[in-house]
Amino acid sequence: MDSLSAEAGLSAAADLIAGAERLVVFTGAGMSAESGVPTFRDTLTGLWARYDAGELATPEAFERDPALVWGWYEWRRELVERVRPNAGHEAVARLDCTVVTQNVDDLHERAGSKKPIHLHGSLFAPRCSGCGKPADAPAVGGAGGEGPRTPPSCRFCQSLVRPGVVWFGETLPVAALEGAVEAAAGADVLITVGTSGVVYPAAEIPQVTAKRGGAVIQINPQPTPLDPFCAVNLRGPAAGVLPEIVR
Ligand code: APR
Repeated sequence: MDSLSAEAGLSAAADLIAGAERLVVFTGAGMSAESGVPTFRDTLTGLWARYDAGELATPEAFERDPALVWGWYEWRRELVERVRPNAGHEAVARLDCTVVTQNVDDLHERAGSKKPIHLHGSLFAPRCSGCGKPADAPAVGGAGGEGPRTPPSCRFCQSLVRPGVVWFGETLPVAALEGAVEAAAGADVLITVGTSGVVYPAAEIPQVTAKRGGAVIQINPQPTPLDPFCAVNLRGPAAGVLPEIVR
């Protein structure tokens, strides 16, 4: 995109947002990248470099090696606790909108967004892998470091505690998915930020708005399969572009 069309895109997006009556912001891992949280497509570093994030995020992986998977999520949780919301999260928090996120971090909440819908669960809501009852997250800074960690046992049934996130092959929380579809269907404008748009059913959310005649604005440095559904494609980073279009 040349600078003139980039400018026109920013201004078209700002106008759509200013005129929106029912606005939804839909976010993925790229939203938190500039806070220092690696996306799922980034190559992992350190001890995790020999693993693929997609392989750690499955029920089979947890069954095979619970300490490896629990250690990976605890490492991510501790990382998220150390970082801060970026200028993109802050711009979203200034909007009167429904936030629907695939992210399992709490950066939207910490920036001030009210009750974001978490389609893929949360790093901060571990539960029992057997009876499903909520469990307490271990104190941060306990075992520490990278690498495998033995998950705690449930205090009710002694099964292993698992991360409260949605893994590949698992169904999304019904209330969250219904709430997201309802918001997207009713939205006249939806901003999709930092998602590769390849993981379903979440990737359906911006398409719901587009198919109902709403305008979709996309913010992503890279093209994605969602491009054809978007009225405006802004190729740039969340923390740079969002403050520019939220006036
Ligand atoms: N600003 C905006 N977008 C960015 C930035 C940035 N600074 N940096 C990277 N991106 C974009 C990438 O171009 C990519 O399209 O963010 C996207 C990240 O893609 P994924 O890592 O696939 O993240 P996401 O789409 O959220 O993944 C969906 O897959 O692994 C599962 O459950 C997990 O919720 C996750 C889901």
